[in-house]
Amino acid sequence: MKSVREIRPLQTEAEWDQFTLVSANAYPGVRATDDAARRRLKERAQQMHADPIVKVYGLFEAGELRGAMRLYDFTMRLHGVDMLVGGVGGVGVDLLHKKAHIAYDMLQFFQAHYREKGAALTTLYPFRPDFYRQMGYGYGRKINQYRLNPADLPQGSRHNVRVLDSTHRQELADCYRRIMMASNGIMAQFDFELESIFTSQNMQRYGYWADGQLRGYLLFTFEPIPNGNFLRNNIAVRALMYEDAAALRGLLGFLRVQADQIEKVVINTQEEDFHLLLHDPRNGSQNLIPSGYHETNTQGVGIMYRVIDVPRLFDLLAGHNFGGQTLTVQIDLADSFWPVCAGRWVLAVENGRATLDPLAQPDVTIGLDIADFSSLVTGSTTFRQLLAYGLAQISDVTFADAVHQLFYTANKPVCHTAF
Ligand SMILES: CC(C)(COP(=O)(O)OP(=O)(O)OC[C@H]1O[C@@H](n2cnc3c(N)ncnc32)[C@H](O)[C@@H]1OP(=O)(O)O)[C@@H](O)C(=O)NCCC(=O)NCCS
Repeated sequence: MKSVREIRPLQTEAEWDQFTLVSANAYPGVRATDDAARRRLKERAQQMHADPIVKVYGLFEAGELRGAMRLYDFTMRLHGVDMLVGGVGGVGVDLLHKKAHIAYDMLQFFQAHYREKGAALTTLYPFRPDFYRQMGYGYGRKINQYRLNPADLPQGSRHNVRVLDSTHRQELADCYRRIMMASNGIMAQFDFELESIFTSQNMQRYGYWADGQLRGYLLFTFEPIPNGNFLRNNIAVRALMYEDAAALRGLLGFLRVQADQIEKVVINTQEEDFHLLLHDPRNGSQNLIPSGYHETNTQGVGIMYRVIDVPRLFDLLAGHNFGGQTLTVQIDLADSFWPVCAGRWVLAVENGRATLDPLAQPDVTIGLDIADFSSLVTGSTTFRQLLAYGLAQISDVTFADAVHQLFYTANKPVCHTAF
């Protein structure tokens, strides 16, 4: 018989100690192998827990903590609307209790918790994409990693670049907020995150000012080249945020002139067109993939999104223009992990304004899995692409373009939040 499981925020010091052990074993890469390192892991988790939007939860069974996770009340700007989105990170299960549906129960709890709070979406970074795709999480946008010779970066007005310090905290927060307002998918900065920017010991911080306003900023660390010597270093860019081309080019111009001291600048970006900025976008491997195509960068999947409440989603997006379309589409969703989303949803769209109306007569029916639907509604993929891959079905292909337009956005989602 399955014993009773309770999932709730951590309370006692003894629970924090159990949490530390479970987390250290679930993430051996963190190397919390001695008392001092375990204390740091615990303190960092407690600091996060003190942030109003973050809470560390434990799954308790038979009087012990057997699973842990952090929940985040994110505010994400999706299609011009600020909305609550639940985030989960640091999922870990006691080594002795794997494959006993502990992660399953924690994810179910997480989704129920945010549904009750009024969120329509949840999000996470997967340790294994297939594990969470099976649970209905769809891919967000990929990341591209460029390892560039500084000289391949464009020039810019680097005289506008100055050191950022903690007196610029509000300016940085305002700059981030303006970028968030103009973009899709960005999550609001939270206190712990903002604080970490200025307290991190080895972080380099630079800003780009124009007309007395911070218009962009760059955070980076120096990274020694493995098996190199003390003169051989790279710059690893941790954040490159910009409101306009001048700010971007100013910050890149600043990196460009570090060529005498730096071998490579490592930049991670979700922008697919970043190579357009570069003098020579090749990564130095001389690899052709296949002949005619020069290797430029590596790519990865990461951030995933999931719809947990279909009516709530369309309520929140009531003011969004769904491609200016007028049509009624029946959406048949498959969702084995979270059956409240599964089934038939009739979306009546008039001049781009969408409402769910179970009584409306559909012009067309589409069918897809909740994971791909989640990628679609966030703008991470398009309907045409899902159709081409057989990941979506349509009852009448003459409506394919209209359905494509309904969900299409040129403003693909980005995420700058690590959690
Ligand atoms: C990864 C980890 C969290 C998994 O924990 P776990 O408790 O062993 O996992 P579970 O037993 O809950 O496995 C998931 C279950 O959900 C089930 N499931 C997933 N999607 C489902 C769906 N759509 N419908 C029904 N069941 C589903 C799976 O089938 C699996 O059950 P099964 O083993 O009976 O097939 C754990 O191994 C761990 O702590 N790893 C190290 C740390 C880590 O990598 N954490 C993840 C960070 S994001």
